[in-house]
Amino acid sequence: MMMLEDLFQSYVSVALMVGLICILISFLSRSKDETREPPGPKPLPLLGNLLQMDLKRIDCSLVDLSKKYGSVFTVYLGSQKVVILAGNKTVKEALVNYAVEFGERYISPSSHDFSGEQRNGILFGNGESWKEMRRFAVSNLRDFGMGKKAAEDKIIEEIQYLIDVFERHEGQPFSNAKSINYAVSNIISSIVFGSRFEYSDEEFKLMVTRANENLQLAGSSSMQLFNMFPWIFRWARNRMRLKRNVAENRNQMKRLIGRLQETLNVEMCRGYVDSFLAHKQKLEDLKITDSHYNLDNLVSTAVSLFAAGTDTTGTTLRWVLLLMAKYPQIQDQVQAELSRVVGDRQVRAEDRKILPFADAVIHETQRFANIFPIALRHQTSTDVTFQGYFIRKGTPVFPLLTSVLWDESEWESPRTFNPAHFLDKDRKFVKRDAFMPFSAGRRACPGEGLAKMELFLFFTSLVQRFRFTPPPGVKEEDLDLTPAVAVTRMPSPHELCAISREGIQNE
Ligand code: HEM
Repeated sequence: MMMLEDLFQSYVSVALMVGLICILISFLSRSKDETREPPGPKPLPLLGNLLQMDLKRIDCSLVDLSKKYGSVFTVYLGSQKVVILAGNKTVKEALVNYAVEFGERYISPSSHDFSGEQRNGILFGNGESWKEMRRFAVSNLRDFGMGKKAAEDKIIEEIQYLIDVFERHEGQPFSNAKSINYAVSNIISSIVFGSRFEYSDEEFKLMVTRANENLQLAGSSSMQLFNMFPWIFRWARNRMRLKRNVAENRNQMKRLIGRLQETLNVEMCRGYVDSFLAHKQKLEDLKITDSHYNLDNLVSTAVSLFAAGTDTTGTTLRWVLLLMAKYPQIQDQVQAELSRVVGDRQVRAEDRKILPFADAVIHETQRFANIFPIALRHQTSTDVTFQGYFIRKGTPVFPLLTSVLWDESEWESPRTFNPAHFLDKDRKFVKRDAFMPFSAGRRACPGEGLAKMELFLFFTSLVQRFRFTPPPGVKEEDLDLTPAVAVTRMPSPHELCAISREGIQNE
């Protein structure tokens, strides 16, 4: 009896021991898995990986690091830990398949200067307020423009103003930066405010200039350092200027909204601002006081639509004209296609299908120019395990669009301007999976449709009317494609000639 009891006891002890070991192993292996963070270069105390970064082209430094550490890796910008997503497959998987987890906006110290304490609107908003503001803006962009004949007509009208400016230079070299930005800005202005501005309107000129200057200030090395070491660089001159510009643009937006409010007729909304004010009034009439429809949110959203809708499309248009001047044979082919297919008549949005070469040139410009190298910064909304790596809630995440648009496994000649990337063997337009200049997922650019229509109509109408060349005495190969230092990759200051094709054809 005694022996049986002993046997039973030792059996239970062994079983308990085995059970405990199993639990320990499973706990250890699970916790190891759950805390396996993305790899990355070893950071130095305080400096993090600063010494591995080219502050003027952080995206290129990150692309180099991705070659060693893979498509999901960690870097420390100062003491700030950041996860980088690289390559078409990884960026798409994160932003589309894990849209909620990777869908929050990260507010860096410099974006805090843009967004202010409010952190509302669209660009820098999060949570319910962002969702509502984005939904409302997208439905208004549709009602007042995007993809509609109304927007097409506005764009075509604006092109005439721009052509007039170009013609006034009579083929002499000039910088097209300001006039292109005014023209493009007028498209989003018509949608937001319900009317365009004269290019000579001082208030308008200041607003466009400040928005453009802000991108350059925010991309400067001192602002990158401010993001990493805010307590040291908080007094940097560029930061002070950026804050002043942001405050002035906000005040100006308040004045513009105030004027629209005085003449508001809720039955006849002129644009997005009127629609917002009408909706706000409706909610107030229903005694709903806790909605997101307040003046502060309206100002933030209008400022972000104005800024996001101006420099992006303007910068892309400046790139495509510069590329046409640099590669005259490609310009020849665009002009030959236009002459053959549409002749002298005004190009319309529906002509895109019958102008595959022009369409390919625009897509290739967006790919090659890569104007948003790191999109806008995201952060994780929750703890997430992605591709086997654990990323904690609230971690800043950078979708490295440079690594997608120049992905060596996706593009035949990633660093060359080559419209054939978007043409099949029969010279028909082909979509490419790694074409992602507007980013992807729930934070993807809501202005994509409008931007595409603007790029197509502005580009084809300008090239139909003018021949773009370098200034006399400058060879095509000497036109510099090095971008200026800014948040977006904009061309460095340059001059081109816009020579009327009527004159050329009559010669
Ligand atoms: C060629 C033109 C354009 C390009 C390449 C572009 C690209 C982008 C990119 C990369 C983002 C960041 C997406 C992300 O966070 O992952 C973005 C966001 C945004 N874009 Fe555009 N954009 C362009 C034109 C426009 C236009 C015309 C508008 C005006 C309607 C606009 C409005 C916005 C807004 C409001 C956001 C913030 C979205 C959010 O945070 O939810 N963009 N854009």
